[in-house]
Amino acid sequence: MVVTLPDSEELRGVREAGRAVAYAIEAMAGGLAVGVTTAELDAIGRAALTSRGARSAPETVYGFPGATCISVNDEAAHGIPGAREVQAGDLVNLDVSAEKDGYYADSGASYPVGEVSEAARALLAATDEALSAALATVRPGELLNGVGRAVQKVADARGFHIVRNLCGHGVGGGLHEEPRAVLNYYEPADRRRFAAGQVLTIEPFLSTNSDRAIEADDGWTLCTAAGGLAAQFEHTIVVTADGAEILTGRD
Ligand code: CO
Ligand code: CO
Repeated sequence: MVVTLPDSEELRGVREAGRAVAYAIEAMAGGLAVGVTTAELDAIGRAALTSRGARSAPETVYGFPGATCISVNDEAAHGIPGAREVQAGDLVNLDVSAEKDGYYADSGASYPVGEVSEAARALLAATDEALSAALATVRPGELLNGVGRAVQKVADARGFHIVRNLCGHGVGGGLHEEPRAVLNYYEPADRRRFAAGQVLTIEPFLSTNSDRAIEADDGWTLCTAAGGLAAQFEHTIVVTADGAEILTGRD
């Protein structure tokens, strides 16, 4: 959605949804430990959203079988919470999107559990760096493809693959809105530009081995096509005159 700046009912609404999402991710990250099941983590996320007057967006919008998406190791996105126990060495992505009072926000982050491999640590650092680099390109009038350009530069420098079929998107009045595909790779033909007040997600997905993700037999989970780890960091932002203002910031 596009909100009126510097202050409006819509911006306050998305901000509130963003706070609920950030709170849920913090709560889930706090519960992340060896032996915890992804269903238990999901229950923490659900309770956190409920306590903030918010509802899971994937569940209500798409009928996703869980309140939050929890994707482990080679799972890049849309992992279904269940009986799987988190192990030391796992890379766990927590992606929470929610609706509050008709407004939507979406955020995600990948976490190491215990001691992880050097490759996993490097992947996390690179993906985090890619998000920061992408956020720094945001400004009204600038090309949207600066996001992909920035992500690609980091991925190339760090030697990781971009999961090219996963991308950012407009959000706010719904979970997935225009602009539909904020690409994580450089597409010179994409001439779309940022506009002040635009609310969207920036969410680079990098992998050790894979350029794309494919759907698993469960009909939801998106796994790295060629195997290997995946990581993602995502924020919902509003485009202001000064650049990207993060609406899903965690403490
Ligand atoms: Co998203
Ligand atoms: Co998300």
